[in-house]
Amino acid sequence: RNVDTACPLAEYRDKGSGTWLANRFRTCDMTLLQTLTQRFEAALAAAGAAGAQPLVQPAGKPEFGDYQVNGVMAAAKQLKMNPRELAQKVVEHAQVADLVAKMDIAGPGFINLHLAPEFLARHVETALHDTRLGVPAQAKRKVMVEYSSPNVAKEMHVGHLRSTIIGDALARVQAFLGHEVIRANHVGDWGTQFGMLTAYLLEVRAGETDEAAIALNDLEAFYRQAKKHFDEDAAFANRAREYVVKLQSGDAEVLALWRQFVDISLSHCEAVYRKLNVQLSRGDVRGESTYNDDLPVVVDDLRTKGLLTEDQGAQVVFLDEFKNKEGDPLACIIQKSDGGYLYATTDLSAVRYRHGTLGLDRVMYVVDARQGLHFQQIFSLARKAGYAPESMVLEHVAFGTMMGEDGKPFKTRSGDTVKLIELLDEAEERAFQLVTDKNPALDETTRRQIATKVGIGSVKYADLSKHRTSDYVFNWKTMLAFEGNTAPYLQYAYTRARSIFDKGVALDAQAAVNLVEPAERILALQLAQFADAVYTVAKDAVPHLMCLYLYQLATQFMRFYEACPVLKSEGTVQQSRLKLCDLTARTLQVGLDMLGIEVMETM
Ligand code: ARG
Repeated sequence: RNVDTACPLAEYRDKGSGTWLANRFRTCDMTLLQTLTQRFEAALAAAGAAGAQPLVQPAGKPEFGDYQVNGVMAAAKQLKMNPRELAQKVVEHAQVADLVAKMDIAGPGFINLHLAPEFLARHVETALHDTRLGVPAQAKRKVMVEYSSPNVAKEMHVGHLRSTIIGDALARVQAFLGHEVIRANHVGDWGTQFGMLTAYLLEVRAGETDEAAIALNDLEAFYRQAKKHFDEDAAFANRAREYVVKLQSGDAEVLALWRQFVDISLSHCEAVYRKLNVQLSRGDVRGESTYNDDLPVVVDDLRTKGLLTEDQGAQVVFLDEFKNKEGDPLACIIQKSDGGYLYATTDLSAVRYRHGTLGLDRVMYVVDARQGLHFQQIFSLARKAGYAPESMVLEHVAFGTMMGEDGKPFKTRSGDTVKLIELLDEAEERAFQLVTDKNPALDETTRRQIATKVGIGSVKYADLSKHRTSDYVFNWKTMLAFEGNTAPYLQYAYTRARSIFDKGVALDAQAAVNLVEPAERILALQLAQFADAVYTVAKDAVPHLMCLYLYQLATQFMRFYEACPVLKSEGTVQQSRLKLCDLTARTLQVGLDMLGIEVMETM
């Protein structure tokens, strides 16, 4: 298989109308790194080291070329060969003339690769003719991304922001690679607090007061008022307890009230999702309550399989691999002594459903890092109980806490938890001021539209660009800066690359790309690495690497733009540079879209 053979028809944008046209060009079926790895695997085999892994990596320094082959020494050691001699043989046997202009052996057996500018140029052309921009689709798998998952008894707060943003990006990346993606919103919609909430909802409904309407607009206030009633009014408290029993026994009236309450709460979440441009809808909600009927079945099944132990009246599972401080096996409680089920029981049932009914290949749980032990236990138990075969990948995609500038978990000035919708409104408002300062001549509607994309994009990007497992400090100033690794910087790079096409120049689809200047070559190399960036982000669930990739791309583009005049050049030189601008713009757009961030033509 060669990089530019055996691919389906792609499309190309018509220069006049901007529409996409089918054409004869072919797309890629391997990423650059995969291609190099495959070629050097073959070269190692031909040199006498069959089965050895070449470990190709982007070079750390420009003097090491573009890529470095690192696996020769290990192979030589195993075969008791001289590494330099083996490296020499590998270089002789490597069939890479279409990709590599120069190879040199460095140190005790590294092979430094200098890619051929003709190959990079050809890649730009191929990618431009491919709606996937040169990113090969992967063999289709069924992937679930479980994210957001707020508790509906209360308003969504910043704690759920990270899950929502990271999960949505990961789902988009999986979909881009051609997988069947199932988004799951595992909302917390069950528990004893719903007795109090449904009883209060009935009261409020009967009253139909303004206060009631206001309370429902603000779930926090609603919760506070219900709790106040519960604490101060004994009759109400009794009714609330009665409602818990009625809910658990499936009483139709109380269930209807509960449904109403969940609906109201979910519509609050949906307002946040819309504002965030997050692809979660009502159909993706499969809350904890959907597993209720299955919980006794799970308990019986665990008992039959000999996994349950009774401990102080509760049904627990001891998992040997988890120890407490004293070194004793840690108990995972499945059923309380009063018969109640737990968070873990629901999650076990969910795993069973995800394998048994949905037949998933991979499940990504985008949940706060502090729930790490919970998921380790669930995954281990699910494997033992046969609910999840090893072929179904279960991953806790953990993330750290969002901190305020005072180094404490993010709160409002009055110390309350910050409501997401208010935070997002503030982001838009701040972006509006910024856009107005930069571009006062634009009409207000346009400025508002830009502010939405910049404001929301900034909040999302600030989160996504940090390694997800570390805590990060929420800071308006850095996230809205037009310089540095920020959404506005990338959005601006996009408008800059696009604006060239407003100046009366047009792309000629037949013109060739020719890389002469160093800045052109580096930009093309960066563009050729897009597929590998997407693959890594998908494999390791690390959106920050997509951010880093796009930031480097924007930076290389800005350098190219300074060093290589586009509008002032002519003929074939101009055409070649226009193609670099076009592919850069499209890569930025597609990459940002994978992060759920929108671009605009002016800003
Ligand atoms: N509702 C939970 C919370 O807010 C998160 C649910 C995570 N998902 C799961 N399958 N347990 O903490």
